[in-house]
Amino acid sequence: MPAVSRFERENIRRMDGYTWGEQPSDGRTIKLNTNENPWPPSPAVARALAAFDVARLRRYPPPHADGFRRIAAELAGVTMDSIIATNGGDEFLRLLLTTFLEPGTPLATTRPSYSLYPVLAAIQGSPTLEVPLGEGFELPADFASRANAAGAGITCVVNPHAPSGCLYDTSALEHLADELDGLLLIDEAYVDFVDPRLGHDTSRLVRDHDNVLILRSMSKGYALAGLRFGYGIGSPALIEPLITKTRDSYNVDLIAQELATAAIGDRAWATDNWQRVRAERERLRAALTDLGFECPPSQANFLFARVPDGAEAPELQARLRSAGVLVRHFRGVGLDDRLRITVGTPAEDDVLLAALAASLGTP
Ligand SMILES: Cc1ncc(COP(=O)(O)O)c(C=O)c1O
Repeated sequence: MPAVSRFERENIRRMDGYTWGEQPSDGRTIKLNTNENPWPPSPAVARALAAFDVARLRRYPPPHADGFRRIAAELAGVTMDSIIATNGGDEFLRLLLTTFLEPGTPLATTRPSYSLYPVLAAIQGSPTLEVPLGEGFELPADFASRANAAGAGITCVVNPHAPSGCLYDTSALEHLADELDGLLLIDEAYVDFVDPRLGHDTSRLVRDHDNVLILRSMSKGYALAGLRFGYGIGSPALIEPLITKTRDSYNVDLIAQELATAAIGDRAWATDNWQRVRAERERLRAALTDLGFECPPSQANFLFARVPDGAEAPELQARLRSAGVLVRHFRGVGLDDRLRITVGTPAEDDVLLAALAASLGTP
């Protein structure tokens, strides 16, 4: 039994916390379970860390992380006051709820979706409306009307969607923003891996709409999950209260600011890394299909593969674990027979594929 204090708020006592993907510390396990980047961050990050003078830690960091915000704003084609730097994308989510969701007012999202949203809503004392996606993970036509009918203050859409990897068109999101009474958060934690030939770009939505916010993360596309750095994009009127009122006074530390700035400034590394992930994603998808998986196209750094007929996803997951490979399995309608597999290096993926072939008895 976990320890319980009589001082805990009632809604906190009643809620469940977030369940992390497994994070083994042995250094040998092949981790294809939490969508981390398989390659190390840009060498510019290593250089910035090596050159860092620890004496500077005596002082507080730049309060607004302007060095980082300047580059992020330029890349998104917005002004700097449309950007907030946060301690991971997760902190941006927490700030949005604290600032814009009246306690008790629902948060809306899709089912499935990022499992942190209901946790943050519960902390706020708010219920979560989960609107089921279609069979191909498409957005339901009545999504906005259902969110409005529930009185949702914030509606969250992951795009590319997790766990499916499906990409929603900017025009579909624009339509949603037009229809929603509340705010629309487009969670772009995985957007860096979208094929650039698709010309996908949602940044104009924050310029044209006063109810759209975008989450970005340095964890996946820049291989910096351990650093905890993300940012949010929105109209200056939406970003201002987050910066001046609801965030911690120095929410991103000095080392994180410097390393994240080095990473986002190295465009050559970023485009090369994303291309490598995409190429490996397509190779892995083809190989999984050959093994009998049904593997829909993904624009993220993971695949959501339905296991071959006759196989059980939890059992395959357990066998992979015995072979030293972690992948993710989710329970729920439309999820039980699938595994979410992060794109690894070609060598890591070859171990995965060999272990799957052995488990399935495929020559
Ligand atoms: C959909 C989605 N949004 C946001 C995040 C937050 O990422 P971070 O806090 O590492 O920037 C994650 C992390 O896994 C995610 O999957």
